[in-house]
Amino acid sequence: MNILVVGGGAREHAICNAVVESKNTVLYSIMHNRNPGIERLAEEYMVEKETNINSVTEFACDKNIDLALVGPEAPLQEGLTDALMEKGITTCAPTKKAARIETDKEWMRKLLKKYDIPGQLRYRSFTDAEKARRFIEELNGDVAVKPIGLTGGKGVKVSGDHFSTTDEAVEYAKEVITRKIGGIAKVLIEEKAVGEEFTLQAFSDGETILPLPAVQDHKRLLPGDKGPNTGGMGSYSCADGLLPFLSKGEYEEAASILQEVIEALSREKSRYIGPIYGQFMLTADGPRIIEINARFGDPEAMNVLPLLRTDFIEICSTMIDGTLYSKQIKIDRKATVCKYVVPEGYGVKSRVGEKIFVDEENINGVGAKLFYASVNKEDDYVTTTSSRSLAVVGIADTISEAEEICEKALTYVKSDHIFIRHDIGKEDLINKRIEHMKQIRGM
Ligand code: AMP
Ligand code: GLY
Repeated sequence: MNILVVGGGAREHAICNAVVESKNTVLYSIMHNRNPGIERLAEEYMVEKETNINSVTEFACDKNIDLALVGPEAPLQEGLTDALMEKGITTCAPTKKAARIETDKEWMRKLLKKYDIPGQLRYRSFTDAEKARRFIEELNGDVAVKPIGLTGGKGVKVSGDHFSTTDEAVEYAKEVITRKIGGIAKVLIEEKAVGEEFTLQAFSDGETILPLPAVQDHKRLLPGDKGPNTGGMGSYSCADGLLPFLSKGEYEEAASILQEVIEALSREKSRYIGPIYGQFMLTADGPRIIEINARFGDPEAMNVLPLLRTDFIEICSTMIDGTLYSKQIKIDRKATVCKYVVPEGYGVKSRVGEKIFVDEENINGVGAKLFYASVNKEDDYVTTTSSRSLAVVGIADTISEAEEICEKALTYVKSDHIFIRHDIGKEDLINKRIEHMKQIRGM
């Protein structure tokens, strides 16, 4: 089978690994950068903007692609799935309409309301920031101010984290509107959910979901969860599929919310096929929905895909056939810790074009997995772009063993101009999360 993977990040490198580990597959890739990991796995690749729908479909037709997979959200918003399917290419990713669950945050909130899905937050949208003031005051200033459309996870500001007064919230709302951050002159004001965040990814065939192990991402740039939001600095998961602060019941609640979301999408004639991603805040009253994404998470894909023991392409086929209900998937019961290496200045002003030397042999030697992201391959090194550079994942029986493997591997990544959040997966930070949750539950 000829498989096309669209996207050149570390998430897509992990997807490509899962593809080549599947039976009878030949990998083709389209990526905007020359990802050395994907380059090596692919029979052929084209360096092209993933949102350039015509080039992607042309390449897919040319290469007789049997199945296409789409990593990032931007091409989904542009209708890549629809365009590929129009050309008769089977695609395991949501259509433009179904992907609206991620690309239009206001529509997502309305859908939850319409179908009375649990885990909702109070929200309203505004085109005039001064009108938002009353609503922000009504919520005692405890709000999240969000662009409606895509911003790569970097457009949201939350009270207490990024601002502290109503005036500041209104000011940012004004900025979102006037600068059309997220694509339109509108802002979403949401009730702030307080607790610990977690990610639940699942496979969906439009009727049934198969949930994967829960993961905790770290969106903030700096150790101790300080600094601006990023695409994600690293993540961990536990061998039992839960998290140190998340019970089985709470996990199941989140899974049932995702199930209700895809049922609602089906009722809206937007059948959702492909991986789906729920970002939840575990509050004192249970999980609340922060966002739903129409794809795997990045970094979260790197926590779950390497654990998959069932043929990944077979799972994709069952998603497309609508027979996921009959599928059992096998997942290694291991803990994982993923840390991203990013260019110095990332999140503010990245140093672009800096050399990173990656000693792959020794990284493999300590048993870690390496996933290249937005770097360009040169001779014996890679160079940074403005986005995240590469990720290293440790896999072991416990989080602390996985973290140790990850750190050992990171010593084989050398550059004067990189940054890593070393606190991710360390006992200190995890204990803080557990304590935070205990405090919130009033225990
Ligand atoms: P998003 O792009 O919607 O995932 O938002 C980025 C980050 O902002 C999330 O991962 C949360 O940490 C935070 N966030 C977004 N919405 C809320 C909310 N309603 N309450 C609390 N934190 C939020
Ligand atoms: N890790 C956050 C995301 O993929 O949106």
